[in-house]
Amino acid sequence: MKLNLKIWRQAGPDAAGRLEDYAGHDISPDMSFLEMLDVVNEGLVRQGKDAIAFDSDCREGICGMCSLVVNGVPHGPDRGTTVCQLHMRRFKDGDTITIEPWRAKAFPVVKDLVVDRSALDRIIAAGGYVSVNAGGAPDGNALLISKETSELAMDSAACIGCGACVAACKNASAHLFMSAKISHLALLPQGQVERARRVVTMIDQADADGFGSCSNEGECEAVCPKEIPISNIARMTREYMKALFAAGK
Ligand code: SF4
Ligand code: FES
Repeated sequence: MKLNLKIWRQAGPDAAGRLEDYAGHDISPDMSFLEMLDVVNEGLVRQGKDAIAFDSDCREGICGMCSLVVNGVPHGPDRGTTVCQLHMRRFKDGDTITIEPWRAKAFPVVKDLVVDRSALDRIIAAGGYVSVNAGGAPDGNALLISKETSELAMDSAACIGCGACVAACKNASAHLFMSAKISHLALLPQGQVERARRVVTMIDQADADGFGSCSNEGECEAVCPKEIPISNIARMTREYMKALFAAGK
């Protein structure tokens, strides 16, 4: 395949960025999207040019590192798919593809297609943990949890913290990300100790880092590679109201 690529280049956080044109040659339909970028970068390096910076790690949809907006859609055109799992057979020979970084105030560009997503780490550090006594692992059946509850909790735990929900949202809201973490822990007995405190501290941290609020657009759910449902946001809102009520606020 031959492709016309329009790729965001930005030398650093304070530099002006722009879309630059690149030609993709000898692209196999069986390549992943990131392998296609590897091929383009090999060509740039051979010419003595600066390679395009982009994030990746596992390249199998579990780490949440890859973060490209492809033709205006975070993670590209396939639903429930990270951009590292997207294959070039999804495109046609001769296609023009625009590739940009996540765009949100809370995710400043580091270089080219790489953004700083440490704001999500700060939200987790603010409350996304449980306090347990260290010691021997308890028997698996010592703490009874219904199948329905365990499945709901595990569906929420599937969030990989990629930030696509923020990138898709017109408010740059981190509500889907936060609600996945809060639901996961609020549903399980192990998460009860910090349950009320967690939802307040995580939302406060998101506000401090410049994420917007939620206006129920649903864009987050549409692009989430783990198909986290926005019903989690409703649960988070209930948790928040209950926590404020209990604190007399
Ligand atoms: S909720 Fe979905 S889109 Fe948002 S960070 Fe988690 S996996 Fe990524
Ligand atoms: S590189 Fe790990 S999810 Fe894409």
